[in-house]
Amino acid sequence: MSAAAAAELIEPGHTVAISGFASAGTPKALIPALAERIHRVRGTGTNFTINLLTGASVSTETERLLSEIDGVALRMPYQSEATARRNINSGRMDYVDIHLSHVAQQVWEGYYGEVDVAVVEIAGITEDGELIPSASIGNNKTWLDVAHKVILEVNSWVPAEMTGIHDVYYETALPPHRKPIPLRAVSDRIGQPTLRVDMDKVVAIVETNARDSASPLTMPDAVSQAIAAHVLDFFSYEVAAGRLPAGSLLPLQSGVGNVANAVLQGLDAGPFKGLTCYSEVIQDGMLHLIKHGTVEYASATSLALSDAGIDELVDNIDFYRKHIVLRPQEISNHPELVRRLGIIAMNGMLEADIYGNVNSTHVMGTKIMNGIGGSGDFTRNGYLSMFMSPSTAKGGAISSIVPMVPHVDHTEHDVQVIVTEQGLADLRGLSPRKRSRVVIERCAHPDFKDQLLDYVGRAEASPTPGNTPHLLGEALAFHQRYLDTGSMAVR
Ligand code: COA
Repeated sequence: MSAAAAAELIEPGHTVAISGFASAGTPKALIPALAERIHRVRGTGTNFTINLLTGASVSTETERLLSEIDGVALRMPYQSEATARRNINSGRMDYVDIHLSHVAQQVWEGYYGEVDVAVVEIAGITEDGELIPSASIGNNKTWLDVAHKVILEVNSWVPAEMTGIHDVYYETALPPHRKPIPLRAVSDRIGQPTLRVDMDKVVAIVETNARDSASPLTMPDAVSQAIAAHVLDFFSYEVAAGRLPAGSLLPLQSGVGNVANAVLQGLDAGPFKGLTCYSEVIQDGMLHLIKHGTVEYASATSLALSDAGIDELVDNIDFYRKHIVLRPQEISNHPELVRRLGIIAMNGMLEADIYGNVNSTHVMGTKIMNGIGGSGDFTRNGYLSMFMSPSTAKGGAISSIVPMVPHVDHTEHDVQVIVTEQGLADLRGLSPRKRSRVVIERCAHPDFKDQLLDYVGRAEASPTPGNTPHLLGEALAFHQRYLDTGSMAVR
């Protein structure tokens, strides 16, 4: 049926679970039609909002369309779009920011109530009624299983050549019925290439022909390149110490953004070959690494490629198919697998404190930026857990190294390495008092070093310094000052 007719099947108050992870696989026809329906129904005096569940971020247009009309009452588990962010921070949209690996089990447990409708983009339907996934898998398996009604969006643009790149594992269960997940290497295939659906639940099939497209990556700037250089030196140091295999290291997970991109680019020029990646998203840069033999195999849940990246993939699909697999995010982010494979986790942060606690999500401790995404899944369970950021933000006005983070996403117990363009702080094996000196000396910008050293010196000299010396009354004054001087752009 038409997207407009299918949108009529979604009612005010419904919990709607949609496909999409990063820029890939979001339904493209149904959401504009739904936004139009919400607008029209509101015109009759009836309030109309939905609760929106996704894999992670979805396409910018989707997020914006629904947020601009205040159409979303509750959003889970991740967003990275300005309009949604504004609604969340002004209290108009409830936001539940959870680890991406937890979404499926929490929905199965019923924390978000019943899922009324799943809207899932697919590439096609097989003769025996199974679904060929499109460019991301995310939580689609779960949405199809739990939803009362299913709307399928068949996107004929998805290149047929992508068929078979997916590996959907079905043997997941809730405790006490869980079994070990039999994945021992990044390239293992443990599932099937298609998604299953109970056809009796399918209330609409909508046809589309519309591209996914991520923004092309920008060339890394000098700061990102400096961070990348520190990371690469560190890998060589770890190889020399016998803690990482020479050549192939251990499977890499990397967050998104310029710094992560710079690290990947740096790897292409470095001494390591035959690397593996066990991550969430494959971006254009990864295709280059695979083509050059720097990366042998990449596992993810989403192919978030630019137009040029998609062309590269499709033109050389027979080659890339041997080097890429897409899995449900339950598996791409699974703690059991992250621990077993020995992942090197590399993620971005807003700020870190002198003891190694990291804030990835809340500017000034209150305003959400994006969300924790998968960073916690990988950091808590990784073999090596690293955070990277420029040492300052907002044109140098704000230090990314602070006495105490005002919001903690990753604790000092999980964070092992902090990297800025100034240097790399290896916190492994260090007590809090040793950590503070290393973080300040290696990572803080020179403009802020003296202030931080003064703070920690006075904290240590206080009458009750304890194990983690702080001057509690003063710890957050570092942040308050930014507000007082207006150097913090409040979103
Ligand atoms: N205080 C205030 N604002 C800060 C800041 C700080 N300490 N550090 C960064 N910012 C602002 C920047 O100024 C920028 O704002 P702008 O868009 O208005 O210019 C914004 O945060 C993004 O910073 P940027 O330097 O461009 O970093 P990034 O693109 O590498 O993103 C995070 C950094 C933390 C926002 C991003 O990594 C993130 O969302 N992480 C959490 C989720 C995650 O890790 N996902 C991957 C897991 S698999």
